[in-house]
Amino acid sequence: MLSIEQLDVDISTTPVLRAVNCRLEAGRTYGLVGRNGAGKTTLLRTIMGFLAARRGKIAFDAVDITHAPAHSRCALGFGYMPEDRQLVPDISVEDNILLPMLALRRVDHKRLDWVYSVIPEAAEARHLHPTLLSGGQQKLVALARALIAGDRVLLLDEPTEGVAPALQRRISTLLGQIRHNGALVFIAESNHKYLAAMADSLYRIERGSVTLNYGS
Ligand SMILES: Nc1ncnc2c1ncn2[C@@H]1O[C@H](COP(=O)(O)OP(=O)(O)OP(=O)(O)O)[C@@H](O)[C@H]1O
Ligand SMILES: [Mg+2]
Repeated sequence: MLSIEQLDVDISTTPVLRAVNCRLEAGRTYGLVGRNGAGKTTLLRTIMGFLAARRGKIAFDAVDITHAPAHSRCALGFGYMPEDRQLVPDISVEDNILLPMLALRRVDHKRLDWVYSVIPEAAEARHLHPTLLSGGQQKLVALARALIAGDRVLLLDEPTEGVAPALQRRISTLLGQIRHNGALVFIAESNHKYLAAMADSLYRIERGSVTLNYGS
């Protein structure tokens, strides 16, 4: 279980997250819905260890990871899809997907084959540089990279934002496919249409405050 207790996060000196509490259980899918600037990315980046908590606690399976370095999340099985994709332009799609494993010096080819079976679009593009792909195709590569590492926790920041409707449908279908794969899935979106049907529980975030909208 990933538990977040009384989390406060500032950016520069401005308070952004205020007393955030979430309890996210293995194997379940959670939505995090809020408007632009509500604090979705800040929460996901803090869970990943890219931003520091000013107060509060983040624990994974009862181990306090609040101040653990960002790279340790990868070894714990956390996968992250940033909202702006953050693909490395001058290496291949496959090397981008493998980056979390290369960082751990442990390439799991079975896992890569599984990711390619789930996202064949990434397999087809594996020898290309990401700059040759459309924004939507790049989203799929970023999702593949999150999946490679995220066998325990998947944090997805606006996976369908800014892509054409057909690809939005494709991505939401994919998310439906991976949600029963054992990992805890936490999906931030500003538009929650598909999340309402998919998420076991839905959190709402408004001006840095999080409330449980429905679920347990
Ligand atoms: N680098 C920064 N410097 C100053 N303020 C920031 C910075 N990044 C974010 N903020 C502020 O923190 C708040 C939360 O931003 P955040 O990016 O977490 O929101 P979000 O819900 O992800 O929004 P979006 O839907 O636009 O991605 C906003 O008010 C934003 O202005
Ligand atoms: Mg954001």
